[in-house]
Amino acid sequence: MLAFLYFVQMLINLPKMLVLSWNNMIFLPQQSPLEPPLSFRISTLPITNNPQLWATPLDLLQKINISICHHKKSVDWWRLDDQNLAENKNCSQIFELSSKKSHLVTVKIDGDEYSEVVNVPKKFWLAAIGDSFSSGQGNPNIEKTDGKPAEWLNEPCHRSTKAFPYLVSQKIPYSSLTFLSCSGATVENGILSKNGQLDSLESLISASGAPPDALFLTIGGNDIGFTDVISLIQRDKNIDDRFDMRFFFVSHQIDRVAWKLKELKIQRVVVMDYYDITKNENGKVDASCGAFGQVSLSNLQLAERKILQRLNTLIRRKAKEHGWIMVDTRELFRTRGICSRDSLIRSKNESLLIQGNEYGSFHPNQEAHRLISEEVLKTFRRIQVV
Ligand SMILES: *[C@@H]1O[C@H](CO)[C@@H](O)[C@H](O)[C@H]1NC(C)=O
Ligand SMILES: *[C@@H]1O[C@H](CO)[C@@H](O)[C@H](O)[C@H]1NC(C)=O
Ligand SMILES: *[C@@H]1O[C@H](CO)[C@@H](O)[C@H](O)[C@H]1NC(C)=O
Repeated sequence: MLAFLYFVQMLINLPKMLVLSWNNMIFLPQQSPLEPPLSFRISTLPITNNPQLWATPLDLLQKINISICHHKKSVDWWRLDDQNLAENKNCSQIFELSSKKSHLVTVKIDGDEYSEVVNVPKKFWLAAIGDSFSSGQGNPNIEKTDGKPAEWLNEPCHRSTKAFPYLVSQKIPYSSLTFLSCSGATVENGILSKNGQLDSLESLISASGAPPDALFLTIGGNDIGFTDVISLIQRDKNIDDRFDMRFFFVSHQIDRVAWKLKELKIQRVVVMDYYDITKNENGKVDASCGAFGQVSLSNLQLAERKILQRLNTLIRRKAKEHGWIMVDTRELFRTRGICSRDSLIRSKNESLLIQGNEYGSFHPNQEAHRLISEEVLKTFRRIQVV
């Protein structure tokens, strides 16, 4: 009797038992720690140069190592989006990917296809446009020696690794720099000209799908005509009235650049005022050290007030108007002009010695660029850019 009841009980529960063992059959292998679910190991290939210089759209591609080697299975092929890489049976694969869009990477492994969406980490993208101030004129990468000429990142533009835009990007990990500043550039001839600096930047922006995270701008010095100023005061000419019209013009030129930057949707424009070359260690305008040739003190004072300060006032006003971030160099150069005992400015003699010509004279020296780069990084931290 008892055996019979047991038998009936078993019959009633049979479907349940079957389901239980069926479930175990299906799910047990997945719960096993021996077979973790498939996944890629993704790493970016180390960047040999920080910052990476982005000059053409091809530079924007990032080398990514995608590996399935840890699963110890045999690979038939890889596929990137819908492009087959049939001949490659390696368990890891280097892809050159853009951060503009997501990519679908597929691998055929032990007869099964496995796919994963891969996003390339975005770099912190800096760009620099403008004139010799931001190109680093006066400070070649490698100074001239007896046998060899000075070396530059870019020779015609006298662009240097010692310039503040380069130094700033070196301090920001995983960053890239589009370095377009060029010695002698004006708005008309360099920044906004056809195939000029902003044209180059624009094509990179459309390739990357987003504007740079920050853009450095040094503008106005060549447009106002710093070289004319020097030559006029050397000939004891009145500089006042001649420059009124030029300031009017420069103001308009700066606006034109601002409109273009707005069109390119660049959110953070970092603008520098011009370094003061005229002050000695006591903070007084000083023409006595011979660096300015025959210029009289009164003429140098006039140039300092009527040109340099006026231009910087204009730049500050424009920065405010256009929502630009202003990096103020007044304090840095207050006692460190060319006739200061503690000068931050290249003299003509230094320029001849270091780069083999005098074009570097009256520009910030290496120490000045270092100090400016620190000032920029301080500003970035304050406004939480990095
Ligand atoms: C790619 O990653 C795999 C796994 O980490 C590694 O074995 C392989 O050497 C890497 N390849 C390169 C070129 O770095
Ligand atoms: C496969 O890996 C080997 C060794 O790491 C490498 O030499 C070869 O170029 C790789 N093949 C492809 C198609 O990437
Ligand atoms: C520059 O060098 C020349 C020739 O070596 C020298 O006579 C002159 O005094 C120097 N000028 C300055 C400002 O140091």
